[in-house]
Amino acid sequence: MPTVTYICPDGELEEVEVPVGTSIMKAAVSHGIESIVGDCGGSASCATCHVYVESHLEMLPPKTSNEDEMLGDAASEVLPNSRLGCQLVMRDDLASLVVRVAPEQW
Ligand code: FES
Repeated sequence: MPTVTYICPDGELEEVEVPVGTSIMKAAVSHGIESIVGDCGGSASCATCHVYVESHLEMLPPKTSNEDEMLGDAASEVLPNSRLGCQLVMRDDLASLVVRVAPEQW
């Protein structure tokens, strides 16, 4: 099963197996990674699942205009590799994805 390594704001690394078709936000929340909130449940309307993608960035689908707009409301600095974790759905070819969780989600 593909894995995602979450680099948490405190520097801890959490490696989680994520089923294909599951968002990296949902996988983080279900594994107790509290630095990802996912307040809206994954409908791209809260920006509390902000991550910085540290690998495979070029393989991800481009941001939708809605995702881009929501990132504008993110609590942490938005960088070129910023994404909403709820909009990143695991695929087989993304195995070993690495994301750094944004330091502030509220
Ligand atoms: Fe709300 Fe991702 S969970 S925008």
